[in-house]
Amino acid sequence: MNRILVTGGAGFIGSNFVHYLVENTDLGVTVLDKMTYAASKEAIAGLPSDRVSLVVGDIADAELVDGLVSSHDAVVHYAAESHNDNSLNDPSPFVQTNIVGTFQLLEAVRKHGVRYHHISTDEVYGDLELDDPQRFTEATPYNPSSPYSSTKAGSDLLVRAWVRSFGVQATISNCSNNYGPWQHIEKFIPRQITNVIDGVRPKLYGAGLNVRDWIHANDHSSAVLRILEKGVIGETYLIGADGEMNNLETVKLILRLMGRDESDFDHVTDRAGHDLRYAIDSTKLRTELGWKPTFQDFESGIADTIRWYRENEDWWRPKKAAIEAAYAAKGQ
Ligand code: NAD
Ligand code: TYD
Repeated sequence: MNRILVTGGAGFIGSNFVHYLVENTDLGVTVLDKMTYAASKEAIAGLPSDRVSLVVGDIADAELVDGLVSSHDAVVHYAAESHNDNSLNDPSPFVQTNIVGTFQLLEAVRKHGVRYHHISTDEVYGDLELDDPQRFTEATPYNPSSPYSSTKAGSDLLVRAWVRSFGVQATISNCSNNYGPWQHIEKFIPRQITNVIDGVRPKLYGAGLNVRDWIHANDHSSAVLRILEKGVIGETYLIGADGEMNNLETVKLILRLMGRDESDFDHVTDRAGHDLRYAIDSTKLRTELGWKPTFQDFESGIADTIRWYRENEDWWRPKKAAIEAAYAAKGQ
């Protein structure tokens, strides 16, 4: 394998993967990214130009995708509309990018016989009760709740069908919630960190008892590279780092690490259809492919992330007022 096409490589997790590839492999990387509101050129700036190039374009553009896929040895597909709250406001770009875009990529890898890895989410499995002893495994039935998670589920099912019907050389991974640098400030953790920097109280949806299973984006990247190199074609791997935490505890941790009183937050209008709990059992990835996460201390990972947002205010500041105005209009 020499050249790899990374879709969505200017987004939060895709850009982390591009850095990870540059640091840990000799592969040449082409990023295909539409540069939506969620992308940032800065996240992949400064990488060696003989290793990484950026093509600005849409994964749903069949002609563009066909040409790019034909000149690469593998595709890792991160590009997506990724925010649940946005999918409740307007599902349309979610259907177009997450389903139609994935379809175009699958048609191109089928035609050119190119290895494909599909990035997905644990949200395709729906949610768990707080006291459910079971966590999600590769055998859990799909049961998505939101327009976001249902379009990701639809894209996963397309991949499975293209493997079975056409022999496409694909693997799938479903990862839990990521945190780390470059995450858009519409998302939970960076929204609260930047609120506290601004002297604004963090906003907790509902009672805040919803549980998310946090993993550092670097650990997601190491898992994806392992699957790309050693994964069995046609298989699905769940990626998680045993990081379950409820939102209330996470907000309190952020407040404490930022020197504020732990009670200094507001409860706001809950998200419609809000999934209660996600939890990943990543035994298959750990035992069959020998992967393990390196960031196992959530508190120090969050402390690093807080430092990053303090030091990179130039990057997020221009987006902050509009994001908060949109949330405020919904009582959030
Ligand atoms: P993000 O919103 O930060 O980045 C998405 C990127 O995709 C952006 O750079 C955007 O410009 C690009 N993009 C959007 N539509 C496109 C199109 N039509 N053509 C080309 N590029 C397009 O998202 P993220 O949080 O980095 O998530 C990346 C992937 O990981 C997604 O597939 C998401 O479902 C999955 N995932 C995310 C998480 C998480 O916690 N954020 C967890 C598990 C899986
Ligand atoms: P989010 O980062 O949007 O990720 P996801 O919906 O994919 O899990 O939200 C994480 C959790 O935080 C989710 O339970 C919703 C909650 N949340 C808040 O409590 N307040 C907020 O301001 C946001 C954006 C999310």
